[in-house]
Amino acid sequence: MKKTVTILLASLLTVVVGCASYEPLVSMRGADVAAADKAPETSAYAGKRPGTQSVIARTFSTQPPLIPHAVDNFDEVTLTENQCLDCHGPANYVKKTSPKLGDSHYKTATQVVDPSRHNCTSCHVPQVDAPALVENRFVGNIKQ
Ligand code: HEC
Ligand code: HEC
Repeated sequence: MKKTVTILLASLLTVVVGCASYEPLVSMRGADVAAADKAPETSAYAGKRPGTQSVIARTFSTQPPLIPHAVDNFDEVTLTENQCLDCHGPANYVKKTSPKLGDSHYKTATQVVDPSRHNCTSCHVPQVDAPALVENRFVGNIKQ
């Protein structure tokens, strides 16, 4: 009987101490788990009109080069339209003094752009001048 009472008291004490030291869980994003995500502030792209800046150095081989210029004023790439090709495409890059598409973007031995390369911005992205959200210690394989 005495033993049962001791065990009971000990369990009660554990529960009381446990509750006293209880701290609410804090999610890494600093909001309640069920709270809807706050949309991040929109930042303007760093680049200006094409033709007014140098290209951004690449950091690893096979990297799709980053877009150094603004893209805000261009129409979205659709099935029938692609403004990127108005400057970078085979018919226009010389006239527009724009970098030529990579050779890998053409169907073998033709000047026809491979349809798998049509949606340029799925690989090439414009840049925002903002501090990194998390520390990044990536070291590329291209010597600068
Ligand atoms: C009005 C002409 C024009 C249009 C339209 C344009 N670009 Fe450019 N692009 C340029 C020029 C010129 C450069 C060279 C850098 C500079 O001056 O901005 C360049 C640079 C680039 C580069 C860097 C190439 C490298 O070797 O580093 C990429 C990638 C690029 N553009 C992708 C795009 C994509 C994707 C689009 C469509 C969303 C686009 N561009 C629309 C003219 C244009
Ligand atoms: C599937 C990913 C992908 C897509 C889609 C894509 N590119 Fe690229 N792009 C690359 C990679 C990777 C390179 C680096 C060298 C290479 O493969 O040619 C590159 C290189 C380039 C270059 C620089 C060429 C050089 O001198 O090396 C330009 C300019 C460019 N792309 C423009 C465009 C445009 C404009 C479009 C849309 C019509 C486009 N790319 C679609 C991945 C892509």
